[in-house]
Order: sequence, then structure tokens, then C-alpha cells
Amino acid sequence: MSRRKKLYEGKAKILYEGPEPGTIIQHFKDDATAFNAQKRATLEGKGVLNNRISEFIMEHLNRIGVPTHFIRRLNMREQLVREVEIIPLEVVVRNVAAGSISKRFNIPEGEPLPRAIVEFYFKDDALGDPLVSEEHVTAFNWASPQEIDEIIALALRVNDFVSGLFAGAGIRLIDFKLEFGRLYDQNDMARVVLADEISPDCCRLWDMTTNEKMDKDRFRRDLGNVTEAYAEVARRLGIMREMD
Ligand code: C5P
Repeated sequence: MSRRKKLYEGKAKILYEGPEPGTIIQHFKDDATAFNAQKRATLEGKGVLNNRISEFIMEHLNRIGVPTHFIRRLNMREQLVREVEIIPLEVVVRNVAAGSISKRFNIPEGEPLPRAIVEFYFKDDALGDPLVSEEHVTAFNWASPQEIDEIIALALRVNDFVSGLFAGAGIRLIDFKLEFGRLYDQNDMARVVLADEISPDCCRLWDMTTNEKMDKDRFRRDLGNVTEAYAEVARRLGIMREMD
């Protein structure tokens, strides 16, 4: 294990060189950070839960034809994914006002938005991931106009499908963050695929009847029982039965 080449270590994940060219091992840590890493903690078992929840969602997306980097889960904390060139954007889709959009426009948290809103943030820790427009994205060449169109279409398709997946489990998908990458074929042609993860670390998930938060806001806002809430999300989605 220790001989593996570490490619990158982020706040919640480590990327190692994969067993075959063009593959990467994505390792989920128990570390949690918020507010651009000003707040940190280790939440025992979080990595295992996020690995399983993200696997479940990515597999469903692969099955309905949404291209993703996900290949298969390797063990409790790791999954094999395709190596992609990450597009330096955090793509946020919002269905209900919460978090930064509530602050920015003074909309009460919990108010449904007129329609799903897609936002772009430039991935740059030093700048605090600023909100950017499509104009910035294409002018600075972070993505081409065609890639942006593909990203928006994929983000909305993922939103529709994953909202339904969670609704079936009694959970409302308030908002979430996606990352996309370019996957190159043998002729060096790139296509946009969904990368990174979809887990309670990067979604807002509220219980459909009580509005109880079941996501990373429990950590950000010191609400307690963070991993318990993630485990409840996994349980309701019908995963991790063997751990009951
Ligand atoms: O903070 P804000 O309201 O903009 O977050 C919107 C969504 O994006 C939330 O679900 C949050 O968990 C996610 N997000 C994230 N990583 C960031 C910023 C936001 O996963 N760096």
C-alpha cells in the first residue's frame, strides 16, 4: 500500500496512481474541513460512508448514461476512477435557497427557488473559490463555450435524477456541488465527464418531513451527530445494510 504513488492530497480525499494507465485510486479520509479549512475535525467513519454513498450515486448515473469517472469501488475507503483533467470549477446546482444564496440575496433558507439554478465558482483556495459568470469561464479559458453547455446540461440531468433518488428515500436535495473533468480518448479527443464525488459532504440534504439537516451543515453549524446523519442517508438509500 505505502509504495503507491500519491498524486494529490486534498482536504477530504487522497488520490493515488491507479493499477493501470489512465486510472486513479480515490481514497476518502475521515477529515472534515469547512470555511476554506479554517474549521477542521476528524469524523470517524465519514470516509467509509462517503465512499459508499458516492459509489451508489455514480453507479446509478453510469447506468442511465451520464458519463462519470467512476469505475468501481475497491474497498471500504477507496474507489477506482478514470484519470481526468479537472476543469477548475465548482458547479453548484440549487433547488431551494440555503447557504450562500440565502445570504447573497436575503432569501430565507428553505424557500424553493423559481427553477433550478446552476452557478460556477472558480476553484482556487487562495481566492476563496469566487462566484464567476459564464463570461469569466470562457474568457479565461477555464472551459470552452461548448464544454460549458455540456456541463450545464449534465448538471441539470444529474439534479433531476439524484433529486428523485433522494426523494424516494424521504430526503430533499436542497443543493449540491459537482466537479467535471476532461476524459481523453486514444485520439486525444476530450469529452466532459462527471468527476469527484457526490456525498453528504457536498450536498445539502434535508429530511422531507422534519427538514432536519442530514449533511455537512451539521459540522459547519455545530449541530452534532454528523456521521450519524450520513449513516442515516446511507441506510435510507438502502446501502450499508451489512453494517446494521
Ligand atoms: O455554501 P454554498 O451555499 O454556496 O454551498 C452550496 C452547495 O455546494 C452546498 O451543498 C455545499 O455543501 C456545496 N459546496 C461544496 N464545496 C464547496 C462549496 C460548496 O461542496 N467548496
